[in-house]
Amino acid sequence: MDFPQSVSQPDHISTHRRLPPAPASSSIRGLVRDPLKFFMSIASDYGDIVCYRPAPDTAYLINHPDFVRHVLVDNNRNYTKGTSSNQMFNKVVGEGLLTSEGETWRKQRRMMQPAFHHTRLEKLDGMIVEAAQSTLERWERFYAEDQPVDVAREMAALTMTVTTRALFGVDLGDEVREVGEIVNRAASYLEKPSHPRLIQSAAELSAVVERIIRQRKQDFKDGGDLLSSMILARDDQTGAGMDDQQLRNQIMTLILAGYETTASALTWTWYLLSQNLEALARLRREVRGTLNGRPPRYADLDRLPYTQMVLDESLRLFPPAWTLGRRAIGEDEIGGYYVAPNTIIAICTYALHRHPAFWDQPEVFDPGRFSPQNLRGRNKFAYVPFGAGPRQCIGNNFGLMEAALILACILQHFELHLIPGMEVLPQPLFVLRPSRDLMMSLHP
Ligand code: HEM
Repeated sequence: MDFPQSVSQPDHISTHRRLPPAPASSSIRGLVRDPLKFFMSIASDYGDIVCYRPAPDTAYLINHPDFVRHVLVDNNRNYTKGTSSNQMFNKVVGEGLLTSEGETWRKQRRMMQPAFHHTRLEKLDGMIVEAAQSTLERWERFYAEDQPVDVAREMAALTMTVTTRALFGVDLGDEVREVGEIVNRAASYLEKPSHPRLIQSAAELSAVVERIIRQRKQDFKDGGDLLSSMILARDDQTGAGMDDQQLRNQIMTLILAGYETTASALTWTWYLLSQNLEALARLRREVRGTLNGRPPRYADLDRLPYTQMVLDESLRLFPPAWTLGRRAIGEDEIGGYYVAPNTIIAICTYALHRHPAFWDQPEVFDPGRFSPQNLRGRNKFAYVPFGAGPRQCIGNNFGLMEAALILACILQHFELHLIPGMEVLPQPLFVLRPSRDLMMSLHP
């Protein structure tokens, strides 16, 4: 791992080396049993910075926007992504943009950025709408047979189709399906990185992705997809492109970072809407008023502000990336407390997004929080569903565009109602998932 050459230190690290408050060491069992509850309760009992010790590490939960900004932005060079969960991710997909560090990361990020430029994203709208419409065609049959749909599963299949088509283009029918099938199989093992089936799926996926890359390079034409853009990318200093292995790692990273997160965001949005009928009605009015029954396009998104606000609020309550982790390189000080080299810093977005000093009635679903006037004056680091600073999500605009187009398309055909009597809890796995199948009935 290549660390940055110079690490900026705060001017003054107090000689007292005061440590943050810490819960009793036995409480660490709660971290394994129910991490969301653990983080919520230590934040509310001990404050905005809390020390806990997941053996063999020392970790600080930071739960204040100023501390988040310090670690992710102002002093980000003192923090790496060298945490155990990132190392697990690395083991599965190889080193890609999500986990690389230092100069390697900077180079990769520069080369990948053009693939996510809005001039490329705006060309993907038709493909996304088409994928949503073929889901709707299947749902018509469910509806005709009075069958509910499992929304979590449906959203995962849909965002997988969208992700693979965005990466590889729409022409690669069979291979794209193969990728989708392998990843869907692998996803259930992603929480157990040493699981033999996950290792096997990763190897299968890697083989298909390598085949696609070789084919694409053979008679290359820019199909407007992300892989084309990545094949064309050149390092602005050396002029070199990415070799096949780098391309493969990046593609695998984008598949895993992009599809389940967006699926989770959509799934929770359907759940929240089913519990908040006023918001649902207002959303439908906006979609109908703006689109008048025709399919949504990229250019319509600016005229669907409430749709965006609903997604923002859903990402507040159920952030798919429910924790962000860093490891300190050198010593530091946060909120007057000493940070020793190697300390793990955890940001639990689920807890931060419910911090009572920054959110009024934090458990209440209220998209109005994200209206332009309400955004003014809020500390923007109280809300980081896509992270912040240089390592902020590269796919945020893509994910939000995809989610908004899919929401609008589906709402033009169906309302989704939760089957009564289902208690749904968030389950913090690789992303924040509902604790059970989310069966919902369809209403035209
Ligand atoms: C709603 C959907 C999404 C959410 C909530 C989300 C969340 C995040 C977060 C929180 C990070 C920062 C992690 C950290 O700082 O430790 C991140 C990074 C990343 N995301 Fe996303 N993401 C989403 C969609 C996507 C999509 C669609 C793609 C690609 C197709 C993607 C690709 C990536 C990559 C490559 C990184 C690493 C960036 C870097 O370190 O330079 N994400 N994402």
